[in-house]
Amino acid sequence: MRVCVVGSGGREHALAHALSRPGHEVVVTPGNPGIPGSTPSPPEEVEADLYVIGPEAPLVDGLADRLRAAGRLVFGPGADGARLEGSKAWMKQVLVEAGVPTARHGVFRQPEKAAAFLRTLAAPYVVKTDGLAAGKGVLVTNSLAEAEADVAAKTSGQAFGAAGRTVVIEEGLSGPELSLLCVCDGRRAVALAPAQDFKRLGDGDTGPNTGGMGAYSPVPIAGPAVVDELLERAVDPTLAALRDHGIDYRGVLYCGLMLTADGPKVLEYNIRFGDPEAQAVLSRYAGDLAELLAEAAAGDLRSEPVWDDRAAVTIVLAAEGYPVSPRVGDVIRGLDEIPPGADDVMAFFAGVARDDARRLVTAGGRVLTITALDHDVAAARRKAYAVAGSVSWPGMQYRLDIALHPSDVSAQVGHGDTNRAESSGVRG
Ligand code: AMP
Ligand code: GLY
Repeated sequence: MRVCVVGSGGREHALAHALSRPGHEVVVTPGNPGIPGSTPSPPEEVEADLYVIGPEAPLVDGLADRLRAAGRLVFGPGADGARLEGSKAWMKQVLVEAGVPTARHGVFRQPEKAAAFLRTLAAPYVVKTDGLAAGKGVLVTNSLAEAEADVAAKTSGQAFGAAGRTVVIEEGLSGPELSLLCVCDGRRAVALAPAQDFKRLGDGDTGPNTGGMGAYSPVPIAGPAVVDELLERAVDPTLAALRDHGIDYRGVLYCGLMLTADGPKVLEYNIRFGDPEAQAVLSRYAGDLAELLAEAAAGDLRSEPVWDDRAAVTIVLAAEGYPVSPRVGDVIRGLDEIPPGADDVMAFFAGVARDDARRLVTAGGRVLTITALDHDVAAARRKAYAVAGSVSWPGMQYRLDIALHPSDVSAQVGHGDTNRAESSGVRG
């Protein structure tokens, strides 16, 4: 099969790596200088048997619809399904309609009404942009004053432009987070191996939210029974609610969950593979990923995912200044420490470019990820950090505690009552 992957980050590199392993030819558009098979040709001009669209922006923009209209086989939702990520207010509406456990929330355009709602909640306060903000539009704070100021900055358009003029305010939940990526064919979903992502910039979950600073898979607590429960209580009802809206959802439904004392609750849906979750999860894929995604794209999912028993740990290496204003143009050193073609240590490239001397230099916030596989999470973690430590550029930053306590989450999963009945939208 010839597969076209759309996108240019570490997720697309990991997709290309996993898709090509059984021998398929993979082209990545636009890719980047660190991803083999990258081409500047737009997807419409690439001939392929299957198109896999990585990032949310082209999906929200209707790329899957345009390719399908041209008769191509596409893995990725159309603009209608992509609205789940394009508008958090709509996503919350679908969650409520589907009866999926989620945080109580309100949707506002007017700062005064938002502030009044905030005052009915207890800390921590959660303020989200309705529209896309590259994972940076969410504020979680214990300060009511900071939350109110954030609402004002967002609704005025100052902070996130049009994406922030509507805000979603949520009750603050607590508990370990889980990313469950499901492959959907419009009617049926199969879960990929669960992963855990580390969203904050600093060790110990401190600092600003980022797109994700590391991930690991499998997650000890999220065994088959938990995954089945999540499919039954969250994913399947959501697919049914989407069908009720006339949406034939073929792509990844990424379920961002918090495992609270009251049971698992959906924090958000994304409409694509997570980054850096994809690097950890897809490195463990032992079957023919192209076949699985092609079946889903055709609306006829039959295969079951096949997994490597080894665990994977992914560390994001980011540029100085990320996530606010990353410094670019620094030469990346130490990459020759990574054995080319190894199946247990991989560098997946994201924000990189070539300078005039053809050297690989930093060109974005999240520059590359190191993924290592080994017999368990602890061994994979040691291997990943050993390699990450050999890569360097001025100002490189990364977290030191990715996958440090993978089993800690076990004590915190509850299967009690959920706040289904409480989930309600408030408009103002
Ligand atoms: P989201 O993009 O909606 O997943 O939010 C980004 C991050 O903010 C999540 O991964 C959580 O760490 C945090 N977060 C989002 N919603 C809540 C909530 N209702 N309560 C506590 N933390 C949250
Ligand atoms: N790692 C979180 C995301 O991809 O949205």
